[in-house]
Amino acid sequence: MPIQFKSGPEIDAMRTAGRLASEVLDFIAPHVKPGISTGELDRLCHDYMVDVQGTIPAPLNYCPPGYKPYPKSICTSINHQVCHGVPGDRVLKSGDILNVDITVIKDGFHGDTSRMFLVGESSIAAKRLCDITREAMWAGIAQVAPGKRLGDIGAAIQKMAESAGYSVVREFCGHGIGRGFHEEPQVLHYGKAGTGVELKPGMTFTIEPMINAGRPEIRELADGWTIVTKDHSLSAQWEHTVLVTDTGVEVLTISEGSPDRDRSPRPA
Ligand code: MF3
Ligand code: CO
Ligand code: CO
Repeated sequence: MPIQFKSGPEIDAMRTAGRLASEVLDFIAPHVKPGISTGELDRLCHDYMVDVQGTIPAPLNYCPPGYKPYPKSICTSINHQVCHGVPGDRVLKSGDILNVDITVIKDGFHGDTSRMFLVGESSIAAKRLCDITREAMWAGIAQVAPGKRLGDIGAAIQKMAESAGYSVVREFCGHGIGRGFHEEPQVLHYGKAGTGVELKPGMTFTIEPMINAGRPEIRELADGWTIVTKDHSLSAQWEHTVLVTDTGVEVLTISEGSPDRDRSPRPA
């Protein structure tokens, strides 16, 4: 399928879905504490999405080609888990870092966002990785405007990560999003400025860099979903869904509890 450009009512629906996805993270944030299991976080989020928001958790039974259906409603990736961690019996402990990735469907449109959480007391090294990964995502977002290219986003992220001594995961990328969970184009988190698809108003896509403290290589666990760093180094990820506007960018996955709500112009 070619890139799906959004206009008018579709953009409004994307704004709603984006805000709702971010509000699930606001809801779960106070529960992310030592002693809770990732399965419990999943259950809480699932019930909030379905019963309170009237949204559909997009991951549940999601089945891209070559995968088995995803069994849960959110992704929870701890420490050296890069992405797609499957919630279960594992209990959070002080010092863990956790990515919670939420994708909701509202009125047929997807909103996709993730944040890092520091559980209890974290090491300076873990905090720095989470901070720089968020800065790298924002460096990518800052490149988004009509006439810019996808390579500008990747190059900005890669520069920020590598100049801090970290590495960018290559196997997973951001993606167009709308009626589909994963639409075109692929949004690489590395690359060369001035190359790639030109950005045009009405494009909606995610920027979701996965940054490893050590080497970039990854491995898939036997569950068929969880991705970990090959060298067991810590990994962090942040994700926003963005819209290319006539003049620049609008971040769609912002809500009252967003740690970065003041960094982005919000829709009027
Ligand atoms: N939310 C993830 C992304 O950012 C995709 C998760 S797919 C799932 O693209 F099936 F694992 F949920
Ligand atoms: Co996501
Ligand atoms: Co995504």
